[in-house]
Amino acid sequence: MTLGPLHGFRDFYPAELAERAHIMRAWREVARRFAFVEYDGPPLESLELYTRKSGDEIVGQLYNFVDKGGREVALRPEMTPTVARMVGARANALRKPVRWFSMPQLFRYERAQKGRLREHFQLNVDIFGEPDVTADAELVAVAIEIMRALGLTSADVQVRASDRRILTGWLAALGVPESAYPAAYAVIDKLGREPRDVAEEKLLKGGVPQAAVEPILGAAEQSLDAVAARVAGTEAAAHVDAYRRFAEGVAALTGDGAQWLRFDLSIVRGLAYYTGIVFELFDAQGELRAICGGGRYDGLLKGLGGPDMPALGFGMGDVVLGELLRQKGLLPTEAPGPDFWVTGNAAGGIPLAMQAARELRAAGFAVEYALRAQKPDKQFKAAQSAGARYVLQLHEEFADNRVVTVREAHRPSGGPSLLAHLPGADIALDQVIAAATTHRASTF
Ligand code: HAM
Repeated sequence: MTLGPLHGFRDFYPAELAERAHIMRAWREVARRFAFVEYDGPPLESLELYTRKSGDEIVGQLYNFVDKGGREVALRPEMTPTVARMVGARANALRKPVRWFSMPQLFRYERAQKGRLREHFQLNVDIFGEPDVTADAELVAVAIEIMRALGLTSADVQVRASDRRILTGWLAALGVPESAYPAAYAVIDKLGREPRDVAEEKLLKGGVPQAAVEPILGAAEQSLDAVAARVAGTEAAAHVDAYRRFAEGVAALTGDGAQWLRFDLSIVRGLAYYTGIVFELFDAQGELRAICGGGRYDGLLKGLGGPDMPALGFGMGDVVLGELLRQKGLLPTEAPGPDFWVTGNAAGGIPLAMQAARELRAAGFAVEYALRAQKPDKQFKAAQSAGARYVLQLHEEFADNRVVTVREAHRPSGGPSLLAHLPGADIALDQVIAAATTHRASTF
């Protein structure tokens, strides 16, 4: 085969799809526990949706083209403009706050590298219609609980959060003129990722006074108390108070939020629409790119021609998260096999195996059997290589007495065997189905 997938795109063979499904199950399950409901939008949008508000960085990475009707279109690089458009269009009819989640595949023409591809799946969790920081806390709690559900702890992952308005107040207190904010933001966003002298030069060129350069380069080390002292008496002081309430909310919602969450003034986020609290999740070793990023974007709906409605959310990609889980041995190593493999008997042949398979499938089990006649030992090997949990061998008299022999073929988790719940290995299919149904959660 000479044609592989495009650079930066992935084939999902079953083993890789099992990894992705494992991540997506945790996403969906935690979103459900927090009472978010699922939605989706179109993968192709008008180009203008992104050029209006997303900011230059993402617009530079668009997969865009002119369609056969002469329209300028783009594959979605992020979900936020789509969901803002959708909520904006029905703002009056929707119950507020709107709590929605989605798991779209997104496309960005980036330089493909570790943790960055040209497509990825991204959980998006967003709240519309709530200005209070309780909503911000709710979102961060969702992200933390997803980490926990996947087996990660606060020793593995850290949430770093800030508020753009606190940063602005801090910059003002340092004597940075407003005209130099964009340069300061750009440098702060890249702290630790570009050489110090380059950052310094950019700051000075952008109009940042010499005296502010050193503090800006050390923004990541500023404690909330130190920043609070700096901005005391200014407008930003109220945002510091709100941030403290936000952090308390995260602690209350997660039980151990203080261990996960750290104030970090250097979190500004690359996208242009954020207006308030912003946050990112990183692996604690600091080796990987961000796992998740989000924040408040109160002006976006209005900016897209919709109502004036507060909004906030985050995006969590499958790529970096998958790398971290793989590193920690927390991903499934194989695609799930069938629950049962049915081996026919000489008397009834394949049709009898089909009948038994039908009954097991109707009870909700995953069942496979050999699609053509094979010797029993060969079938047992086939069952094992398919990863089947149990093999059911139909007895010669199965048609009369429904007796099968139950054997264990594969023990993925070392959990209890179904055999422990059966009076013997030779037993009627109906009893197997009854016991397997009762002990489904523990024995499969
Ligand atoms: P973002 O920071 O661009 O935010 O992306 C969020 C996460 O998606 C990143 O932290 C990363 O894990 C993953 N990600 C982004 N680009 C790539 C890529 N090229 N390859 C692999 N993973 C990637 C947003 O997209 C915002 N729209 C999130 C949001 C939702 N804000 C509010 N609501």
